[in-house]
Amino acid sequence: MMLRLKDILVVRDKKPILRVNDLGLAQGERLAVIGPNGAGKSTFLKVLALLEQPTAGEIFFRGERVTAKNLLAFRRRMAVVFQEPLLLNTTVFDNVAQGLKFRGVSGSEAERRVDYWLDRLGIAELRHRRPLHLSGGEAQRVSLARAFVLEPEIIFLDEPFSALDFPTRIDLLEELGALLANTGATAVFVTHDFNEIPHLTDNVAVIDRGQPVYKGALKEILAGKVTLPVVRHLLRPLQKSRQINEYIK
Ligand SMILES: Nc1ncnc2c1ncn2[C@@H]1O[C@H](COP(=O)(O)OP(=O)(O)OP(=O)(O)O)[C@@H](O)[C@H]1O
Ligand SMILES: [Mg+2]
Repeated sequence: MMLRLKDILVVRDKKPILRVNDLGLAQGERLAVIGPNGAGKSTFLKVLALLEQPTAGEIFFRGERVTAKNLLAFRRRMAVVFQEPLLLNTTVFDNVAQGLKFRGVSGSEAERRVDYWLDRLGIAELRHRRPLHLSGGEAQRVSLARAFVLEPEIIFLDEPFSALDFPTRIDLLEELGALLANTGATAVFVTHDFNEIPHLTDNVAVIDRGQPVYKGALKEILAGKVTLPVVRHLLRPLQKSRQINEYIK
């Protein structure tokens, strides 16, 4: 087991916002996390990524209990991509190289790795640009390069493409799907849109009101076999677009 949450409780402002009894992430597993606004998806992701301290419970990384002592070392084996690209006002190259620097990789080795990932994400020509004037899609390519250059054992992505236009989003989802398949990285991908998931995985967790209420195959959900009200609610946009497709046939 790569990562495991056990009896996790997160309380904020005296309210429980996340409860996870037992949830594991296997090596190489790719998990999509879906749920309505405010369900607790980002909190769940941040707890897994060791960025948010739970009020109670235990987290295990490859079987070892996460403690204040080993937290930073474990966190360095992970990478996170957020919805808003958190880029620094320096060159694209330096942005991608920054995490490597923190991990003690510099010089020609860093340069080789950064160039490889800039190229792989199709942004080699942006190398000397500053992020301020990049398009949303370009900026998220930089964010992905920043994450993958670290060669993380787990990559966490929190609605990374939801601010992008539809064609750009599809391109990036397809590329991310290929990258994850090729690198074999364990990945957790938060979305609120079922349409995004098939590009990445068939494995999905549904979070509702602070709790995982389903973990299993997306196929089962799309086949209508999961009757939870929250799942029906999340499926509505998909049904609408199907109706439109029928209409324009
Ligand atoms: N630090 C905090 N203090 C108080 N409440 C918080 C805190 N962090 C999150 N919450 C609350 O916990 C709930 C879950 O938040 P979270 O951001 O995890 O949801 P989400 O599923 O990611 O939502 P969205 O789809 O809008 O991104 C929300 O009601 C939020 O207001
Ligand atoms: Mg969120």
